Amino acid sequence: MTRASFEERGAEAPTEATAREVRAYFERVRSLVESKLDELVPAATAEPASVHAAIRWSLFAPAKRLRPALVFAAGEAFGASAESLLSVACAFELIHTYSLVHDDLPAMDDDELRRGRPTCHVRFGEAAAILAGDALQALAFQAVAEDETLDPTLRVRLVSDLARAAGTPEGMVAGQAHDLEAEAREGVGGEELELIHRRKTGALIAAAARAGALVAGASDVELEAVARYALELGLLFQITDDLLDVTASAADLGKTPGKDARARKATYPALYGLEAARERARRVYEEACAALDSIERPTPVLRAVARLVLERRG
Ligand code: IPE
Ligand code: IPE
Ligand code: MG
Ligand code: MG
Ligand code: MG
Repeated sequence: MTRASFEERGAEAPTEATAREVRAYFERVRSLVESKLDELVPAATAEPASVHAAIRWSLFAPAKRLRPALVFAAGEAFGASAESLLSVACAFELIHTYSLVHDDLPAMDDDELRRGRPTCHVRFGEAAAILAGDALQALAFQAVAEDETLDPTLRVRLVSDLARAAGTPEGMVAGQAHDLEAEAREGVGGEELELIHRRKTGALIAAAARAGALVAGASDVELEAVARYALELGLLFQITDDLLDVTASAADLGKTPGKDARARKATYPALYGLEAARERARRVYEEACAALDSIERPTPVLRAVARLVLERRG
Protein backbone atom coordinates (compact mmCIF):
# COMPACT_ATOMS: atom_id res chain seq x y z
CA MET A 1 0.00 0.00 0.00
CA THR A 2 1.54 3.30 -1.02
CA ARG A 3 1.16 6.70 0.57
CA ALA A 4 -0.98 7.87 -2.34
CA SER A 5 -3.44 5.08 -1.83
CA PHE A 6 -3.74 5.88 1.90
CA GLU A 7 -4.54 9.46 1.05
CA GLU A 8 -6.81 8.71 -1.87
CA ARG A 9 -9.18 7.06 0.58
CA GLY A 10 -9.86 10.58 1.87
CA ALA A 11 -12.55 10.73 4.53
CA GLU A 12 -12.65 6.96 4.67
CA ALA A 13 -8.95 6.74 5.38
CA PRO A 14 -8.24 4.22 8.12
CA THR A 15 -6.98 5.60 11.41
CA GLU A 16 -4.17 3.10 11.28
CA ALA A 17 -2.41 1.25 8.48
CA THR A 18 -2.51 -2.54 8.68
CA ALA A 19 0.58 -4.48 9.67
CA ARG A 20 1.00 -5.55 6.05
CA GLU A 21 0.74 -1.98 4.77
CA VAL A 22 3.27 -0.69 7.25
CA ARG A 23 5.70 -3.49 6.39
CA ALA A 24 5.42 -2.51 2.74
CA TYR A 25 5.98 1.12 3.73
CA PHE A 26 9.20 0.22 5.59
CA GLU A 27 10.32 -1.88 2.62
CA ARG A 28 9.89 1.06 0.25
CA VAL A 29 11.81 3.41 2.57
CA ARG A 30 14.55 0.82 3.10
CA SER A 31 15.13 0.46 -0.60
CA LEU A 32 15.22 4.22 -1.28
CA VAL A 33 17.42 4.97 1.72
CA GLU A 34 19.91 2.16 1.19
CA SER A 35 20.47 3.21 -2.44
CA LYS A 36 21.00 6.83 -1.43
CA LEU A 37 23.33 5.86 1.44
CA ASP A 38 25.39 3.91 -1.06
CA GLU A 39 25.84 7.15 -3.03
CA LEU A 40 26.60 9.26 0.05
CA VAL A 41 29.29 6.98 1.50
CA PRO A 42 32.70 6.50 -0.15
CA ALA A 43 33.48 3.07 -1.64
CA ALA A 44 34.97 0.49 0.72
CA THR A 45 38.13 0.47 -1.35
CA ALA A 46 38.59 4.27 -1.39
CA GLU A 47 41.36 5.52 0.90
CA PRO A 48 41.32 5.46 3.90
CA ALA A 49 39.93 1.99 3.17
CA SER A 50 40.05 0.91 6.82
CA VAL A 51 37.52 3.62 7.71
CA HIS A 52 35.30 3.18 4.67
CA ALA A 53 35.14 -0.60 5.01
CA ALA A 54 34.23 -0.20 8.69
CA ILE A 55 31.50 2.33 7.89
CA ARG A 56 29.96 0.07 5.28
CA TRP A 57 30.14 -2.99 7.52
CA SER A 58 27.98 -1.29 10.15
CA LEU A 59 25.75 0.78 7.89
CA PHE A 60 24.74 -1.91 5.41
CA ALA A 61 24.11 -4.67 7.92
CA PRO A 62 20.44 -5.69 8.24
CA ALA A 63 18.61 -3.00 10.24
CA LYS A 64 15.09 -1.72 10.78
CA ARG A 65 15.71 1.79 9.37
CA LEU A 66 13.13 3.13 11.81
CA ARG A 67 14.41 6.70 11.89
CA PRO A 68 14.33 7.10 8.07
CA ALA A 69 10.84 5.55 8.05
CA LEU A 70 9.75 8.18 10.55
CA VAL A 71 11.18 11.00 8.46
CA PHE A 72 9.15 9.65 5.54
CA ALA A 73 5.97 8.92 7.48
CA ALA A 74 5.87 12.38 9.05
CA GLY A 75 6.95 14.13 5.86
CA GLU A 76 4.52 12.31 3.60
CA ALA A 77 1.66 12.82 6.08
CA PHE A 78 2.05 16.54 5.34
CA GLY A 79 2.65 16.21 1.62
CA ALA A 80 6.45 16.23 1.18
CA SER A 81 7.91 14.39 -1.84
CA ALA A 82 10.15 11.37 -1.37
CA GLU A 83 12.93 13.23 -3.17
CA SER A 84 12.88 16.08 -0.66
CA LEU A 85 12.97 13.67 2.31
CA LEU A 86 15.68 11.28 1.16
CA SER A 87 18.91 12.97 2.27
CA VAL A 88 17.38 13.95 5.59
CA ALA A 89 16.23 10.37 6.18
CA CYS A 90 19.76 9.16 5.37
CA ALA A 91 21.26 11.69 7.77
CA PHE A 92 19.28 10.20 10.65
CA GLU A 93 20.40 6.68 9.76
CA LEU A 94 24.03 7.85 9.54
CA ILE A 95 23.89 9.46 13.00
CA HIS A 96 22.08 6.46 14.45
CA THR A 97 24.66 4.03 13.02
CA TYR A 98 27.49 6.13 14.45
CA SER A 99 25.76 5.98 17.84
CA LEU A 100 25.59 2.18 17.64
CA VAL A 101 29.25 1.80 16.63
CA HIS A 102 30.35 3.91 19.58
CA ASP A 103 27.75 2.41 21.98
CA ASP A 104 29.30 -1.02 21.36
CA LEU A 105 32.90 0.03 22.09
CA PRO A 106 34.67 -1.62 25.04
CA ALA A 107 34.65 1.69 26.94
CA MET A 108 30.88 1.89 26.56
CA ASP A 109 28.62 -1.21 26.42
CA ASP A 110 31.37 -3.56 25.25
CA ASP A 111 29.26 -5.59 22.82
CA GLU A 112 30.38 -8.12 20.24
CA LEU A 113 27.27 -8.58 18.12
CA ARG A 114 25.33 -5.87 16.27
CA ARG A 115 22.86 -6.11 13.42
CA GLY A 116 23.62 -9.82 13.29
CA ARG A 117 27.35 -9.26 12.73
CA PRO A 118 30.48 -8.91 14.84
CA THR A 119 30.59 -5.31 16.06
CA CYS A 120 32.63 -2.76 14.17
CA HIS A 121 35.53 -2.71 16.65
CA VAL A 122 35.62 -6.52 16.84
CA ARG A 123 35.88 -6.75 13.05
CA PHE A 124 38.10 -3.73 12.29
CA GLY A 125 39.73 -2.71 15.58
CA GLU A 126 38.92 0.09 17.98
CA ALA A 127 40.65 2.90 16.16
CA ALA A 128 38.83 2.19 12.89
CA ALA A 129 35.52 1.91 14.75
CA ILE A 130 36.01 5.23 16.51
CA LEU A 131 36.93 6.91 13.24
CA ALA A 132 34.06 5.23 11.38
CA GLY A 133 31.66 6.67 13.97
CA ASP A 134 33.23 10.11 13.66
CA ALA A 135 32.98 9.98 9.87
CA LEU A 136 29.38 8.73 9.90
CA GLN A 137 28.47 11.73 12.00
CA ALA A 138 30.19 14.18 9.66
CA LEU A 139 28.60 12.52 6.62
CA ALA A 140 25.17 13.04 8.16
CA PHE A 141 25.57 16.77 8.48
CA GLN A 142 27.14 16.97 5.03
CA ALA A 143 24.18 15.11 3.49
CA VAL A 144 21.71 17.70 4.74
CA ALA A 145 23.88 20.77 4.24
CA GLU A 146 24.60 19.84 0.60
CA ASP A 147 21.07 18.74 -0.41
CA GLU A 148 20.22 21.21 -3.13
CA THR A 149 16.60 20.10 -3.33
CA LEU A 150 16.05 21.91 0.00
CA ASP A 151 15.90 25.62 0.64
CA PRO A 152 19.15 26.78 2.36
CA THR A 153 17.29 28.25 5.35
CA LEU A 154 15.51 24.93 5.87
CA ARG A 155 18.85 23.11 5.65
CA VAL A 156 20.27 25.24 8.45
CA ARG A 157 17.24 24.53 10.64
CA LEU A 158 17.49 20.79 9.96
CA VAL A 159 21.21 20.69 10.69
CA SER A 160 20.65 22.63 13.90
CA ASP A 161 17.85 20.30 15.08
CA LEU A 162 19.90 17.24 14.20
CA ALA A 163 22.92 18.57 16.09
CA ARG A 164 20.84 19.29 19.19
CA ALA A 165 19.24 15.85 19.10
CA ALA A 166 22.54 14.03 18.57
CA GLY A 167 24.63 16.06 20.99
CA THR A 168 24.52 17.62 24.40
CA PRO A 169 23.12 18.76 26.86
CA GLU A 170 19.70 17.43 25.82
CA GLY A 171 20.51 14.97 23.08
CA MET A 172 21.86 11.48 22.56
CA VAL A 173 25.41 12.11 23.82
CA ALA A 174 24.07 13.55 27.07
CA GLY A 175 21.80 10.51 27.50
CA GLN A 176 24.62 8.08 26.77
CA ALA A 177 26.87 9.77 29.34
CA HIS A 178 24.09 9.62 31.91
CA ASP A 179 23.33 5.96 31.06
CA LEU A 180 26.96 4.96 31.68
CA GLU A 181 27.26 7.03 34.81
CA ALA A 182 24.10 5.42 36.23
CA GLU A 183 25.38 1.84 35.68
CA ALA A 184 25.58 0.01 38.99
CA ARG A 185 24.62 3.16 40.87
CA GLU A 186 22.00 2.76 43.59
CA GLY A 187 18.90 4.92 43.71
CA VAL A 188 18.12 5.53 40.03
CA GLY A 189 14.39 6.26 40.16
CA GLY A 190 11.65 6.45 37.55
CA GLU A 191 12.11 10.09 36.70
CA GLU A 192 15.85 9.81 36.19
CA LEU A 193 15.45 6.67 34.09
CA GLU A 194 12.86 8.35 31.89
CA LEU A 195 15.19 11.28 31.35
CA ILE A 196 18.06 8.97 30.35
CA HIS A 197 15.83 7.16 27.85
CA ARG A 198 14.32 10.31 26.42
CA ARG A 199 17.80 11.67 25.77
CA LYS A 200 19.82 8.66 24.66
CA THR A 201 17.15 7.31 22.30
CA GLY A 202 14.11 9.58 22.28
CA ALA A 203 15.80 12.78 21.15
CA LEU A 204 16.94 11.40 17.78
CA ILE A 205 13.65 9.62 17.10
CA ALA A 206 11.72 12.78 17.93
CA ALA A 207 13.97 14.87 15.71
CA ALA A 208 13.47 12.42 12.81
CA ALA A 209 9.70 12.81 12.82
CA ARG A 210 9.97 16.57 13.31
CA ALA A 211 12.42 16.83 10.42
CA GLY A 212 10.00 15.11 8.06
CA ALA A 213 7.24 17.49 9.06
CA LEU A 214 9.58 20.48 8.70
CA VAL A 215 10.56 19.47 5.15
CA ALA A 216 6.86 19.19 4.33
CA GLY A 217 6.23 22.72 5.58
CA ALA A 218 3.80 21.59 8.30
CA SER A 219 2.19 24.32 10.41
CA ASP A 220 3.44 25.12 13.92
CA VAL A 221 0.46 23.33 15.45
CA GLU A 222 1.13 20.24 13.32
CA LEU A 223 4.83 20.35 14.13
CA GLU A 224 4.07 20.50 17.79
CA ALA A 225 1.72 17.52 17.59
CA VAL A 226 4.26 15.47 15.63
CA ALA A 227 6.96 16.36 18.14
CA ARG A 228 4.77 15.25 21.08
CA TYR A 229 3.97 12.00 19.29
CA ALA A 230 7.60 11.31 18.52
CA LEU A 231 8.86 12.17 21.99
CA GLU A 232 6.58 9.47 23.39
CA LEU A 233 7.50 7.12 20.56
CA GLY A 234 11.19 7.56 21.40
CA LEU A 235 10.60 6.69 25.05
CA LEU A 236 8.46 3.73 23.98
CA PHE A 237 11.23 2.51 21.68
CA GLN A 238 13.78 2.40 24.50
CA ILE A 239 11.35 0.73 26.94
CA THR A 240 10.75 -2.02 24.40
CA ASP A 241 14.51 -2.22 23.77
CA ASP A 242 14.96 -2.81 27.52
CA LEU A 243 12.20 -5.45 27.52
CA LEU A 244 13.66 -7.26 24.52
CA ASP A 245 17.08 -7.38 26.17
CA VAL A 246 15.40 -9.58 28.80
CA THR A 247 12.98 -11.58 26.66
CA ALA A 248 14.30 -11.90 23.09
CA SER A 249 16.89 -14.11 21.41
CA ALA A 250 20.14 -13.07 19.73
CA ALA A 251 18.68 -14.33 16.44
CA ASP A 252 15.71 -11.95 16.72
CA LEU A 253 17.72 -9.02 18.05
CA GLY A 254 20.92 -9.29 16.04
CA LYS A 255 22.66 -8.36 19.30
CA THR A 256 23.44 -10.22 22.52
CA PRO A 257 20.52 -10.27 24.96
CA GLY A 258 20.95 -10.15 28.73
CA LYS A 259 23.64 -7.49 28.56
CA ASP A 260 21.72 -4.87 30.56
CA ALA A 261 21.41 -7.04 33.66
CA ARG A 262 25.07 -8.06 33.43
CA ALA A 263 26.15 -4.41 33.16
CA ARG A 264 23.66 -3.50 35.93
CA LYS A 265 22.09 -0.90 33.65
CA ALA A 266 19.18 1.19 34.76
CA THR A 267 16.27 -0.18 32.68
CA TYR A 268 12.47 -0.37 32.88
CA PRO A 269 12.32 -4.09 33.66
CA ALA A 270 15.10 -3.74 36.25
CA LEU A 271 13.29 -0.89 37.97
CA TYR A 272 9.66 -1.99 37.66
CA GLY A 273 9.65 -5.68 36.69
CA LEU A 274 8.53 -7.09 33.33
CA GLU A 275 4.78 -6.75 33.74
CA ALA A 276 4.82 -3.16 34.99
CA ALA A 277 7.34 -2.22 32.28
CA ARG A 278 4.99 -3.68 29.64
CA GLU A 279 2.10 -1.74 31.13
CA ARG A 280 4.17 1.45 31.06
CA ALA A 281 4.98 0.79 27.39
CA ARG A 282 1.29 0.49 26.59
CA ARG A 283 0.51 3.78 28.32
CA VAL A 284 3.32 5.58 26.49
CA TYR A 285 2.00 4.11 23.20
CA GLU A 286 -1.42 5.55 23.98
CA GLU A 287 0.11 8.94 24.74
CA ALA A 288 1.91 8.88 21.39
CA CYS A 289 -1.31 8.14 19.50
CA ALA A 290 -3.25 10.72 21.49
CA ALA A 291 -0.80 13.40 20.37
CA LEU A 292 -1.76 12.63 16.76
CA ASP A 293 -5.47 13.23 17.45
CA SER A 294 -4.98 17.00 17.20
CA ILE A 295 -3.80 16.68 13.57
CA GLU A 296 -6.69 17.05 11.16
CA ARG A 297 -5.34 14.99 8.31
CA PRO A 298 -5.03 11.19 8.57
CA THR A 299 -1.81 9.80 9.98
CA PRO A 300 -2.29 6.05 9.45
CA VAL A 301 1.39 5.28 8.99
CA LEU A 302 2.54 7.19 12.09
CA ARG A 303 -0.10 5.33 14.14
CA ALA A 304 0.96 1.99 12.72
CA VAL A 305 4.62 2.76 13.46
CA ALA A 306 3.73 3.33 17.12
CA ARG A 307 1.95 -0.03 17.28
CA LEU A 308 4.86 -1.70 15.54
CA VAL A 309 7.25 -0.29 18.15
CA LEU A 310 4.96 -1.43 20.99
CA GLU A 311 4.61 -4.95 19.61
CA ARG A 312 8.03 -5.48 18.06
CA ARG A 313 9.94 -8.71 18.63
CA GLY A 314 13.35 -7.49 17.49
C1 IPE B 1 19.14 0.17 18.73
O1 IPE B 1 18.41 0.80 17.71
C2 IPE B 1 19.64 1.17 19.70
C3 IPE B 1 18.60 1.88 20.42
C4 IPE B 1 18.44 3.14 20.29
C5 IPE B 1 17.74 1.17 21.33
P1 IPE B 1 17.55 -0.02 16.66
O2 IPE B 1 16.81 -1.11 17.39
O3 IPE B 1 16.77 0.92 15.84
O4 IPE B 1 18.67 -0.73 15.80
P2 IPE B 1 18.78 -1.06 14.23
O5 IPE B 1 19.00 0.24 13.55
O6 IPE B 1 17.52 -1.75 13.79
O7 IPE B 1 19.98 -1.95 14.15
C1 IPE C 1 21.61 2.75 23.12
O1 IPE C 1 20.87 2.13 24.09
C2 IPE C 1 21.12 4.01 22.69
C3 IPE C 1 22.07 4.60 21.70
C4 IPE C 1 22.21 5.86 21.65
C5 IPE C 1 22.84 3.76 20.79
P1 IPE C 1 21.33 0.63 24.28
O2 IPE C 1 22.75 0.53 24.69
O3 IPE C 1 20.31 -0.08 25.11
O4 IPE C 1 21.21 0.07 22.77
P2 IPE C 1 21.56 -1.42 22.36
O5 IPE C 1 20.67 -2.31 23.20
O6 IPE C 1 23.01 -1.63 22.61
O7 IPE C 1 21.16 -1.47 20.90
MG1 MG D 1 24.12 1.76 25.62
MG1 MG E 1 24.19 -0.88 24.02
MG1 MG F 1 19.53 -1.96 24.80
